[in-house]
Amino acid sequence: MARERTLSEQAFEQFPQALMLVDREATVLSLNAVGERLTGWASRDAIGRPAADILEVRTETGVNLCAPNGALRRALRLGTRINTHFAYLFRLRTSDDPVRVSYSVSPIRLKGKTPDAAVIIIHDVTPELETIEARDALMLAASHELKTPLTTLKGLSELLLDFDLSEAQRRELLQDLHGQADRMEKLIGDILAVSRIDSGRISVDFSRVDIGSVVDHVCDEVRPMLKGRTLKCRAPEDLPPVMGEARKLHQILVNLLTNAIKYSEPGTQITFNARADQSAVRFEVSDQGVGIRKEHMPRLFEKFYRADDPLVRRTSGTGLGLYIVRSLVTMLGGQVHVRSRHGKGTVFTVILPRAEATSRTRPRVAVGAH
Ligand SMILES: Nc1ncnc2c1ncn2[C@@H]1O[C@H](COP(=O)(O)OP(=O)(O)OP(=O)(O)O)[C@@H](O)[C@H]1O
Ligand SMILES: [Mg+2]
Repeated sequence: MARERTLSEQAFEQFPQALMLVDREATVLSLNAVGERLTGWASRDAIGRPAADILEVRTETGVNLCAPNGALRRALRLGTRINTHFAYLFRLRTSDDPVRVSYSVSPIRLKGKTPDAAVIIIHDVTPELETIEARDALMLAASHELKTPLTTLKGLSELLLDFDLSEAQRRELLQDLHGQADRMEKLIGDILAVSRIDSGRISVDFSRVDIGSVVDHVCDEVRPMLKGRTLKCRAPEDLPPVMGEARKLHQILVNLLTNAIKYSEPGTQITFNARADQSAVRFEVSDQGVGIRKEHMPRLFEKFYRADDPLVRRTSGTGLGLYIVRSLVTMLGGQVHVRSRHGKGTVFTVILPRAEATSRTRPRVAVGAH
């Protein structure tokens, strides 16, 4: 019996959510470790006090859990279990700001019909709410961003339907229409990638990646976008492999090269270098383009951030590219850096660990980046 009680006590103490046990007068009998951390009360100080001294939990309508007409007294009187989804925990000893929580009160009977005690479970829902809020913000921004190309698409298709046009005019409009559809497709792909990254639904299938073939594919893919700029791709034949995933490395480099092209004038040069040192491979994308002002640097990798610069705003873009780049580089165990001079050009550097420098039996991992 003694051992069983110890285990029950341990279960109570180590339960991963805040637990408070009160008697039928709503006086605290015990408070577990998470409860101590959440409220800032040591269990020895809380025991013997009215629960209302320790907990001020209010629902959005302002009803206090421990008030005479609150959920705790009702559960103790009626013997029914009470749950809420959202409430706020105030008067914490740990911080001035209320914590967003959900709670339930479960009456406990030893003998007879009236409850002898109740256990209050409090769950800190801040992380869940942050995820929901981030998803809502992404949805809102995505709908807003999709509206612009969609409006253009509608306008173009109306022109095509309503006017008698020459074959050349029709072709021109159809080409514009195709361009807008491409833009929407890229945007939707980026939004889905961000949503997978933010919810941790993306994993890396680690294997040794042959850099030479990735570099060739990347350079071939961006060449048609150059339109008068030159691209120098320089990667030694004998580059050692990195530990990562070819598709993700491809996505990282295409994003950086697309930016180098977008934010520079025809006639300038873009250089793409890859070289190895003892522990890592460094990829460098440099351009002679518009550059980035100092004040924009700290926010470049944020979702939807675009520099407030007319030379940037005349190109289309959503501001998701670098967020995706940084998230993928982090997942691959690397780093990304940027150096730039406004009006002169920009250099982005990605550093990824060499395959030999990392364990060969790395498991699949899922990483959420925020
Ligand atoms: N090579 C560069 N030269 C100058 N500015 C750059 C360069 N790369 C990025 N930037 C700045 O950083 C911002 C964010 O880049 P990011 O790739 O995230 O978004 P974007 O290119 O605007 O849109 P997209 O989501 O289509 O990539 C750009 O809007 C631009 O202001
Ligand atoms: Mg971009």
